[in-house]
Amino acid sequence: MNKEGLLITFEGPEGGGKTTLVKEFIKPWIQEDLGFGENAIFLREPGGTPISEEIREILLNKSHKIGIKTEVLLFQAGRAENCDEIIRPALETGKLVFIDRFGDSSIAYQGCARSVGVYNIDWLNKFSTGGIIPDVTFLLDIDPEIGLRRRDNSTEGKNRLDKENLDFHHRVREGYLSEVAGRSQGRWIVINADRPQIDVATEVMEKLEERLVLRGFLEGQISKEHER
Ligand code: TYD
Repeated sequence: MNKEGLLITFEGPEGGGKTTLVKEFIKPWIQEDLGFGENAIFLREPGGTPISEEIREILLNKSHKIGIKTEVLLFQAGRAENCDEIIRPALETGKLVFIDRFGDSSIAYQGCARSVGVYNIDWLNKFSTGGIIPDVTFLLDIDPEIGLRRRDNSTEGKNRLDKENLDFHHRVREGYLSEVAGRSQGRWIVINADRPQIDVATEVMEKLEERLVLRGFLEGQISKEHER
C-alpha cells in the first residue's frame, strides 16, 4: 500500500499501564503540545468502529464462554474492520495512527498463550490487516505477577482474559519477548513498565520523539536532551 503515515502500537501483558499512558500522556502531548490535532488518531483493540466495539463487548464479557477458534476470529474481525474503515485511509493520507494493542496481541495471547501457533496467527493477521505492519511498537514489559496485582488494585473490573491463570499470563509475556527477540527487530522498543508511570511516560515520549524526527514528522523540535 501507499503508506505516507506512521503506525505506532502499544503492546504488553496485563497491568503494564498502556491505556493510562496513551490516554493521559501520549494523546495530549501529540495532539495538543506537538500540534498534530486531528492528524493523529487514537484507537484501541479490541474496539474502534461501531462494529468493532460490539465485537469487543462479546470478547471481553466475563459471562461468555467462547471457543478458541471463535475468539481468534473475532479479534481478527474487529481488526479487519478497523484496518479497512479507519487505519488504511488514515495512513494513506499521512496521519499518525496510535493503537493500544494490534496484531502482536493476537500473536502473544492467541498464538502463544492459547497455543494456536504463531504461524497461524501471522497468516490471519496478514489477511485481516491486508499487510499493514506497525512502524514502531512499544512493549510495556512487566512481570505478570506484578501486572496482575496492579490490575487487582485498580478500579477497572477484570475482563474475560484477565481472569486466566498466572501461567497463561506468563505465556503471554514469553510470547511477546520471543517476538521481540525473533522477528522485525527494528520496530520494537522494550520499556520496563515496573516503574512509576511518569518515568515510563518520559522514556516513551523521548523514544517516540526520536522516531518522529527520524521519519520526518517533526522538524527542529528535538528536545535539549537529544541535542546534547
Ligand atoms: P482491555 O480491557 O482493552 O485491556 P488492556 O488494558 O489489557 O489492553 O482488554 C483487552 C484484552 O484482550 C486483553 O486481555 C488482551 C486481549 N487481546 C487478545 O487476547 N488478543 C488480541 O488480539 C487483542 C487485540 C487483545
